[in-house]
Amino acid sequence: MKKQIAVLFGGCSPEHEVSLQSAAAVLGAMDRTRYDVLPVGITKEGDWFLYCGAVSRIADGSWRMDAPALVPAAVSPGRTEPGLLALRGQGWERIPVDAVFPVLHGRNGEDGTVQGLFELAGVRVVGCGTLASALCMDKQRAHALAAAAGVAVPRAAVLGQQDLGAAAQLTAPLAYPLFIKPLRAGSSFGITRIQSPDELEPALARAFAYDDMAVAEQAVEGFEVGCAVIGGSTLRTGRVDEIELSGGFFDFDEKYSLRTARIHVPARITPELEQRVTQTAKTVYRALGCSGFARVDLFLTPEGGIVFNEVNTIPGFTEHSRFPGMFRAAGMSFAEVVAAIVDAAVGA
Ligand SMILES: Nc1ncnc2c1ncn2[C@@H]1O[C@H](COP(=O)(O)OP(=O)(O)O)[C@@H](O)[C@H]1O
Ligand SMILES: [Mg+2]
Repeated sequence: MKKQIAVLFGGCSPEHEVSLQSAAAVLGAMDRTRYDVLPVGITKEGDWFLYCGAVSRIADGSWRMDAPALVPAAVSPGRTEPGLLALRGQGWERIPVDAVFPVLHGRNGEDGTVQGLFELAGVRVVGCGTLASALCMDKQRAHALAAAAGVAVPRAAVLGQQDLGAAAQLTAPLAYPLFIKPLRAGSSFGITRIQSPDELEPALARAFAYDDMAVAEQAVEGFEVGCAVIGGSTLRTGRVDEIELSGGFFDFDEKYSLRTARIHVPARITPELEQRVTQTAKTVYRALGCSGFARVDLFLTPEGGIVFNEVNTIPGFTEHSRFPGMFRAAGMSFAEVVAAIVDAAVGA
């Protein structure tokens, strides 16, 4: 029996466009002899459609204009016949679904909200569940749990919008430079690296454009590495990768253009250090209750220390994205990676 897999794309998130790229690649790689695929597009406004048009229209966003192919869709919260409801003709048609793969990034998709919706409806979710997704989205709470598991984290302070006037005081224990970030966002949106307290206010304003909470983090010296993890009770990891920056930080532009930054897979580190990074990534993954898959990002300091940055529970998923790249370096093709994480959810 073929499994019916709903693949969610787009999303009511600033990372909508990034999701379109990831979803186009995932949809292109799913084995249609094993899965019946139901693409579900979520507009920036948050409307849901079963998309019956050409997958080639997803990446450029033109699926949204493909009116005849857009069937209004919803999730039925009832658990007896888990699945989607599609508004066809006069009424709602029930479409059974074995699992949903939210290929969504950022708020309203990667943050536990969509995961909770489907868990309530009795539909299996590819990737992390509600709690882990929400925790990983919250940079400070993720740090607190990683620290409790013995992993080093940057010194930081959390600020709400009401703290704007007292920001200098609240961040006084931190040594500059600082990274000012929205507490819950992604793709480097709203992040600024600042050198002095007089830059605090405009940087916080940029962060508050994405979330009502912000975090001020002491900059970690060194470079960033990532570890791709798949699994639940037993874990598989890809090769560790490394981001080589030529200045600044890994901002939105660099992430998606790699104009001056470079990704090295595997990272140019000793096998012993790669082993330690992998172990630390697994510790963080377990501490945050991750399942399915996630990319754990860490810093390596000049002294050989490992400092936790963040977990991306739905990392970028194009053919040239870091997560599949790390598994490719370990001998798994893009399609094999997609199949492994989908099968982990449907129990195939
Ligand atoms: N504490 C830090 N020290 C050094 N660089 C940082 C720090 N925090 C963030 N950065 C830089 O900013 C980038 C984006 O920050 P990150 O916390 O990963 O946010 P996002 O969820 O948007 O990816 C990182 O990839 C890194 O280049
Ligand atoms: Mg990041």
